[in-house]
Amino acid sequence: MKIIVTGAAGFIGGNFVHYMLKQHPADKIICLDLLTYAGNMETLAPVMDNPNFSFVKGDIADRAFIYQLFEAEKPNIIVNFAAESHVDRSIENPGIFLQTNVIGTSVLLDACKKYGIKRYHQVSTDEVYGDLPLDRPDLYFTEETPIHTSSPYSASKASADLLVQAYHRTFKVPITISRCSNNYGPYHFPEKLIPLMIANALNDKKLPVYGTGDNVRDWLYVEDHCSAIDLIIHSGRVGEVYNIGGHNERTNLEVVKTIIRELGKDESLIQYVSDRPGHDRRYAIDPTKIKTELGWEPTTLFDEGIKKTIQWYLDNKPWWERIISGEYQDYYGKMYDNR
Ligand code: NAD
Ligand code: DAU
Repeated sequence: MKIIVTGAAGFIGGNFVHYMLKQHPADKIICLDLLTYAGNMETLAPVMDNPNFSFVKGDIADRAFIYQLFEAEKPNIIVNFAAESHVDRSIENPGIFLQTNVIGTSVLLDACKKYGIKRYHQVSTDEVYGDLPLDRPDLYFTEETPIHTSSPYSASKASADLLVQAYHRTFKVPITISRCSNNYGPYHFPEKLIPLMIANALNDKKLPVYGTGDNVRDWLYVEDHCSAIDLIIHSGRVGEVYNIGGHNERTNLEVVKTIIRELGKDESLIQYVSDRPGHDRRYAIDPTKIKTELGWEPTTLFDEGIKKTIQWYLDNKPWWERIISGEYQDYYGKMYDNR
């Protein structure tokens, strides 16, 4: 089996490549990534010498490049992780989100239609469902929950999902879509909540909590996301959407206080800052479909996963210290100074 993994130098794509090379040693994995600010070849360093690994730098929205790659490699499966993924950046600059997340997806779908494929898998997000109220803990996102987006990021991901479904219905492209909740774990770019708080706490910097810190996310250890996608591409029903998540809801404040406690720091580091515009209140996944159809369940609960994650950031300081010493400083200043 030949699998093209797009966005493979990012957080989840990188973890997925590590996972697949371990689980399917006979498969060839072709990693494709534009190496934007979020792409990092160091994430792929541990698998670089594997004979079944190859890397190609390029843009999923570059039609000529993508068609050439399909012609040369004749892949069986595409797993599309490539995206602009940070909500705050989408509020600052929506255009690149439309370009990569919507146009890029459409180019990949055209290539699948033109050259034929066994499976195209779209890595989507639970953010396409919008949010749930904080005072209704009985409510969850199911695959039937209407699309109702809040940010330019989630709107671009929802647009991509609609295109994927249209290419299945009209052109019979064999697709699946997964919509996962918040991931955490190794190689997570330190602009996102958990790695940002770990890095700041280790440097005794303020921990910027948006609004009141009451917003709730349903945290999934990244390896559990990888195992779910592996199951879907091999055994999921063509044309279907699968939600992925595992009842690990925490408020942002609970997450930040856990990190403070684990690192032996003081809660006085917490700084409440102005809220994210359009801030989604609560995400919570109902994973019944993937559990009953494919037998998937998360294996790492939050209390264990957060300890493993913190340990990884302690053991791999050069990975994230190189990031936060570069252009990240400009981003951080723009987002957080005088917030
Ligand atoms: P990330 O930002 O860490 O990685 C994205 C990768 O895509 C980077 O390596 C980047 O260089 C690459 N990329 C960006 N534009 C590209 C382009 N035009 N062509 C080729 N490569 C390009 O993101 P992530 O957190 O790993 O998320 C991966 C996917 O999973 C995204 O589609 C995201 O929407 C989805 N998702 C993320 C989460 C989460 O919690 N992080 C949860 C659910 C779904
Ligand atoms: O639910 C899946 C989504 O999870 C993915 O589709 C996105 O790609 C991914 O980035 C993530 O989106 P969130 O917006 O939930 O993640 P983020 O880490 O940016 O923020 C998590 C929560 O923490 C959110 O309520 C905002 C808050 N926050 C975030 C940052 C960066 C803070 O309070 N302070 C911060 O500095």
